[in-house]
Amino acid sequence: MIDGKTLGLAIESSCDETSAALSLNGREVLSNIISSQIAVHTKFGGVVPEIASRHHLQNINTVVDSCFEEAGEKLGRKLTMSDVDFIAVTYGPGLVGALLIGVATAKAYALAAGKPLIGVNHMQGHISANFIEHKDLEPPFMSLVVSGGHTNIVQVDRYNHCISLGGTRDDAAGEAFDKVARVIGLGYPGGPKIDKISKQGDPDAIRFKRVFLEEGSMDFSFSGIKTGVLNYVNGEKQKGHEINVPDVAASFQQAVLDVIVTKAVWAAEKPKRLAVAGGVASNSRLREMLTKECEERGIELFFPSPVYCTDNAAMIGCAGYYKYLDGGIDDLTLDAIPGLAMDA
Ligand code: KG4
Ligand code: ZN
Repeated sequence: MIDGKTLGLAIESSCDETSAALSLNGREVLSNIISSQIAVHTKFGGVVPEIASRHHLQNINTVVDSCFEEAGEKLGRKLTMSDVDFIAVTYGPGLVGALLIGVATAKAYALAAGKPLIGVNHMQGHISANFIEHKDLEPPFMSLVVSGGHTNIVQVDRYNHCISLGGTRDDAAGEAFDKVARVIGLGYPGGPKIDKISKQGDPDAIRFKRVFLEEGSMDFSFSGIKTGVLNYVNGEKQKGHEINVPDVAASFQQAVLDVIVTKAVWAAEKPKRLAVAGGVASNSRLREMLTKECEERGIELFFPSPVYCTDNAAMIGCAGYYKYLDGGIDDLTLDAIPGLAMDA
């Protein structure tokens, strides 16, 4: 406890960021250290799971030490593990080897320091990222979760509890961004590169098909549009034409976002509150489109800052805090669950 507030340590290692954070009462972030492996994986065109695990192992203790140092500087007093009230860690979904490093580290700290261990669902963490900067936001609300592995519309009933109303039947939105970026030669990580280059392109240059599925469905399908881009690029090459990369990127992005925004706005029509989460939530065009649509419909819209959209431990600390308050303490048998459902 620090000044009557609960101090949580959180660890995140589900994919290619090694991160540790300290926060007070879940929502007041004292430090959020993120060691990104982007440079390491870029030469392979995507995340190599074994390499990711090795880098997490090499970096995790240093990242945890730095998070104590930075939080201590912010508070003007030295912080140690004995000040911590709980240790939260992502246990799924994610890459199994990567998750295991975080889970094993958190268990070791919890055992050595005699602290409660809290296993956190990574997707609940993404949703909770909204609580950090929007101090008044509380469930219930609708959430659009768009990341590298997920595209879901979920009803958030209470802290750490949601019901998925629909999800992708094939590729996730971020996955489609990453795959299309590769096809048009932008490389990894695709999402931010498409976002940037699209600003110089015409979103109406090429009409890629929008897939809405059955009427009223909250599900998504993005594999068709990925194939559509591939066919377009190959067709142009066969004709000996140069492709206009900004136009292809902008047209692809617009087609994906038209579907996502339409469905998210439908879903939020009743609760009139929408919180967006996940790596793709940092997409500037998505933010622009949702802001306009929600304003017109009187829907209150919440976004985390980009640093809290992509993987980070502060969001895990926030979800962990509410699980801790609920008495959701795990024992040392906590294991990594790579396929953990988002509404598990
Ligand atoms: O949430 P996240 O950091 O990791 C997962 O839990 O999956 O999301 C990573 C995904 C990647 O597919 C990345 O390309 C995408 O988020 N992404 C973006 C942007 N920034 C990250 N997609 C579109 N526009 C962006 N600005
Ligand atoms: Zn994530």
